[in-house]
Amino acid sequence: MQDIPWQDLPQQDQELVEQAQQALALAYCPYSRFQVGAALRCTDGTIITGVNVENASYGMTICAERGAIMHARARGYTQFEALAVITRNEGELTSTPASPCGACRQVLFEAAQAAGTQLKVILTAADKSCCILTDTEELLPLGFGPKDLAC
Ligand code: THU
Repeated sequence: MQDIPWQDLPQQDQELVEQAQQALALAYCPYSRFQVGAALRCTDGTIITGVNVENASYGMTICAERGAIMHARARGYTQFEALAVITRNEGELTSTPASPCGACRQVLFEAAQAAGTQLKVILTAADKSCCILTDTEELLPLGFGPKDLAC
């Protein structure tokens, strides 16, 4: 895990964060007012975004990270390189990144293991002053995945 400001990221990761930031405005979060934007870079360079979509039946909410993975799969993309996530709480420009929930960690872990790769994850604070660089193995140590079922 590494912690650096947005401007110190490689150019293509800066762009990925910017795509996630642009997606933030599309989040549907009338209950939490916590906007989450995600941008997933596929190995061919295509970027696919996701946002959190809440529901009056709260448990039906889908997080931005899972939204991005489902969106990518539906478009035929299965090989991913990096995921950027940015959050904004009540529109405030906070300097602390949020971390993916357990359900999203499981889905990201599967996406990476099924593809036989590591998936880089960039967690970004709303003001972009701090980006945490991590990956799916670190987010879900000893995770259960497709390899466990392939006896
Ligand atoms: N949320 C995400 O989109 N991703 C996460 O990993 C954590 C939580 C969303 C769900 C809900 O809409 C809001 O943030 C507050 O929990």
